[in-house]
Amino acid sequence: MDSRISICLLLCISLQFIYTLADSDNYIIHMDLSVMPKAFSNQHSWYESTLSQVTTTNNMLKSTSSKIIYTYNNVMNGFSANLSPEEHEALKNSVGYISSIPDLPLKLDTTHSPQFLGLNPYKGAWPASDYGKDIIIGVIDTGVWPESESFNDNGMTEIPTKWKGQLCQFENTKNSSFCNKKLIGARFFNKGFLAKYRNISETIVNSTRDTEGHGTHTSATAAGSRVDSASFFGYANGTASGIASLSRVAIYKPVWGPDADAVSSDVIAAIDAAISDGVDVLSMSLGYSDIPLYEDAFAIATFAAMEKGIFVSTSAGNSGPSFKTVHNGTPWVITVAAGTLDRESHGNLTLGNGVSLTGFATYLGNFSASNLPIVFMGTCDNYTELIKVKSKIVVCEDKDGTLSSHVYNVVEAEVVGAVFISNASELLQYSFPLITINKKNGEIVKDYIQSSSNSSSIAKMSFKITSFDAKPAPSVDFYSSRGPAKSCPYVLKPDITGPGTSILAAWPANIPVLDFGDHKLFSKFKFLSGTSMSCPHVAGVGALLKGAHADWSPAAIRSAMMTTSDILDNTKKPIKDIGKGNKVATPLALGAGHINPNRALDPGLVYDVVVQDYVNLLCALNFTQENITAITRSSTNDCSKPSLDLNYPSFIAFFNAENSSSRTSQEFSRTVTNVGEEKTTYVASITPIEGFNVTVIPDKLVFSKKNEKLSYKLRIEGPRMTQEDEVAFGYLTWQNEKHVVRSPIVVTNSQ
Ligand SMILES: *[C@@H]1O[C@H](CO)[C@@H](O)[C@H](O)[C@H]1NC(C)=O
Ligand SMILES: *[C@@H]1O[C@H](CO)[C@@H](O)[C@H](O)[C@H]1NC(C)=O
Ligand SMILES: *[C@@H]1O[C@H](CO)[C@@H](O)[C@H](O)[C@H]1NC(C)=O
Ligand SMILES: *[C@@H]1O[C@H](CO)[C@@H](O)[C@H](O)[C@H]1NC(C)=O
Ligand SMILES: *[C@@H]1O[C@H](CO)[C@@H](O)[C@H](O)[C@H]1NC(C)=O
Ligand SMILES: *[C@@H]1O[C@H](CO)[C@@H](O)[C@H](O)[C@H]1NC(C)=O
Ligand SMILES: *[C@@H]1O[C@H](CO)[C@@H](O)[C@H](O)[C@H]1NC(C)=O
Ligand SMILES: *[C@@H]1O[C@H](CO)[C@@H](O)[C@H](O)[C@H]1NC(C)=O
Ligand SMILES: *[C@@H]1O[C@H](CO)[C@@H](O)[C@H](O)[C@H]1NC(C)=O
Ligand SMILES: *[C@@H]1O[C@H](CO)[C@@H](O)[C@H](O)[C@H]1NC(C)=O
Ligand SMILES: *[C@@H]1O[C@H](CO)[C@@H](O)[C@H](O)[C@H]1NC(C)=O
Ligand SMILES: *[C@@H]1O[C@H](CO)[C@@H](O)[C@H](O)[C@H]1NC(C)=O
Repeated sequence: MDSRISICLLLCISLQFIYTLADSDNYIIHMDLSVMPKAFSNQHSWYESTLSQVTTTNNMLKSTSSKIIYTYNNVMNGFSANLSPEEHEALKNSVGYISSIPDLPLKLDTTHSPQFLGLNPYKGAWPASDYGKDIIIGVIDTGVWPESESFNDNGMTEIPTKWKGQLCQFENTKNSSFCNKKLIGARFFNKGFLAKYRNISETIVNSTRDTEGHGTHTSATAAGSRVDSASFFGYANGTASGIASLSRVAIYKPVWGPDADAVSSDVIAAIDAAISDGVDVLSMSLGYSDIPLYEDAFAIATFAAMEKGIFVSTSAGNSGPSFKTVHNGTPWVITVAAGTLDRESHGNLTLGNGVSLTGFATYLGNFSASNLPIVFMGTCDNYTELIKVKSKIVVCEDKDGTLSSHVYNVVEAEVVGAVFISNASELLQYSFPLITINKKNGEIVKDYIQSSSNSSSIAKMSFKITSFDAKPAPSVDFYSSRGPAKSCPYVLKPDITGPGTSILAAWPANIPVLDFGDHKLFSKFKFLSGTSMSCPHVAGVGALLKGAHADWSPAAIRSAMMTTSDILDNTKKPIKDIGKGNKVATPLALGAGHINPNRALDPGLVYDVVVQDYVNLLCALNFTQENITAITRSSTNDCSKPSLDLNYPSFIAFFNAENSSSRTSQEFSRTVTNVGEEKTTYVASITPIEGFNVTVIPDKLVFSKKNEKLSYKLRIEGPRMTQEDEVAFGYLTWQNEKHVVRSPIVVTNSQ
């Protein structure tokens, strides 16, 4: 026998050995830096030494150094490592060990459905002007397609000197030329992912290049440069621009594979690096559900970012419309819900008698035939009948709500075109010429066909018509996750709504946007929907506000956005909730309102929060000192004034029925800071909440100088709520001649 077999044998044994180590997993370990022996020059060497003492000695395949995945400098005191259960147990007895959390997988809040083609562009109406010019937005996502025109740096000034980032990692080069004055940094993080999922390492590229598309889209949404005549095959033709079109972007890629997977050790390493590099704003369209704050690597890492003054925008999630589906219920970030906009994609049907009717359409092809015969086919439920009229435009009527299966019939029958009479707007067909018209127009079409003698009725179809007057808009979309937040219900989440449905932004040129018949279609821009899309809008507005108000804390920026947001839509009625049958959206869906960047620049008053306020909240949540340390990194947390009543620009009270007393009350304290005119008086008013008494004391605040702080109390009294998931809400508004400072008030039993 030759030597190959023995090699194979050895390999097989080794593989077997690796396999038996499969029990090992990644952990994120909190350490107490204050007990680090003086002998160690830095924390990394201390961690290595600590680990070497617990490493199983017969583990020859892995050296100690490879067990540490990352040492973290900013987001926590500690490291991540791949350990066997025995090693993990042994580590718990080491000097300085505080606690550990498992390295949990998480997914990006990608689109909620393939309904990417859309109805509304983001407005981009407000000129970003100089705002955002020296602001750096870090985007934690799937990477970037650096060649996209949205990252051109035409006319941009020098990179701000505060930027410390050195790396621009693409295609295995340490320092590539893909970066410029717009795209100023690019780094990837896959060590945790590779340690946890060794079996898929070959599919992971060592590059920040976006192989999925999502990160290109979100980073262009936050801060893409202006690109003229951007469109999606003719729909939504116009100038594409990020919200802060002169801000810089730095891309951090901890998300891998076709399914946009990530692990927290990589994500917090990305946040750690972004803090070191000097970003001002972070945009993160991912999050954990259903874990306590002290085990949520995101909550932990963003606490450090908040302390450094970084404004962190996160997505609410796409798990709506049920209550308690919101993630990132973290009190020190802004949590963003998603709404629709006012743009729609249309098609026209022009009848032989010259009458032209408009309906919804998303067909991407080039439809040219005119004077086609048009026939009415009832509900289009008979495929055999449809086959017989392949060369005609068929008209189908939605009678019983089974329309989607009938769409399938006409597509399968390959009729030349179809008109559906339906009130459904979601019949999006990209590769089949279909127009959806309303009942009124449907009657006109049916009358025309019936009155035309002898099937002489003809029509033509045209597509790619964009309208900007959809009403009502915005509405909170179906998929957007709803509060209250499980991890901390005492702070009302989500905070705010931004444009999330059918957002057009940059897309990698080599990733197909869809299959059109038998060929793939490519586009430099694409429509996507989700809270992933609304999150970078708010990050972009954060950059504008930071540019205009360098001295504002992240909490002040969040407050400015929330108290100036819109609660009325473009019909001047309260914003609706598509997920709740178009009823008025409650703050558990909408947050404080829909973001209004121009008004947020000048809010009048802000609700500021300092680090100790957050600690007081963590104390009141009854977390152990150890648990609080996991978040704050401080070994001494002052819990002398625990309080669930955070100085937040919104209110949520739980009036659950369990208690014997039929009535109850709750009081909140708030302190507002005057960031508007020097001498001014604000007067309170309350939008009544039916069945509840809400009072404000005092109801007048007289400011004599800028940055003065004044306090008030808000008291809610009323019955306990008995029915499941009851929600009542109203608003507290402080008003002077110039400013309206509004906060939502929610009373609920949904905790
Ligand atoms: C990368 O390139 C920049 C600009 O050319 C340079 O300043 C920096 O030192 C380089 N960094 C590394 C790690 O080579
Ligand atoms: C890799 O292993 C994990 C479990 O350890 C499994 O869930 C996953 O499907 C595997 N992936 C591949 C590509 O084999
Ligand atoms: C990426 O880098 C890691 C470690 O640096 C290496 O093990 C892996 O093979 C590389 N992957 C590719 C696809 O080059
Ligand atoms: C988009 O609009 C521009 C200017 O209005 C026009 O020149 C261009 O042809 C349009 N492109 C498409 C695809 O409709
Ligand atoms: C579509 O039809 C409407 C009337 O319903 C008409 O006003 C409009 O000009 C038509 N648009 C095109 C591009 O044909
Ligand atoms: C429609 O025509 C344009 C211009 O000729 C072409 O670029 C595009 O690929 C065509 N679309 C389809 C779906 O074939
Ligand atoms: C469909 O129409 C054919 C006649 O073209 C008829 O024989 C058949 O019964 C119909 N099928 C259904 C399900 O109505
Ligand atoms: C749409 O029409 C169907 C019946 O055709 C009806 O059941 C449904 O309630 C309508 N939906 C809306 C939103 O009007
Ligand atoms: C109706 O159609 C028949 C045959 O299909 C034809 O003979 C007749 O002339 C047509 N009548 C009219 C009014 O067009
Ligand atoms: C914390 O514990 C106290 C005392 O047991 C209790 O009254 C309070 O309700 C708890 N707070 C929370 C948020 O669970
Ligand atoms: C939270 O506190 C519990 C009880 O003290 C402890 O078992 C756990 O390790 C702590 N977790 C963290 C991350 O601090
Ligand atoms: C509100 O206050 C009034 C006057 O104090 C009282 O009569 C009423 O019962 C209160 N209503 C509720 C719902 O608490």
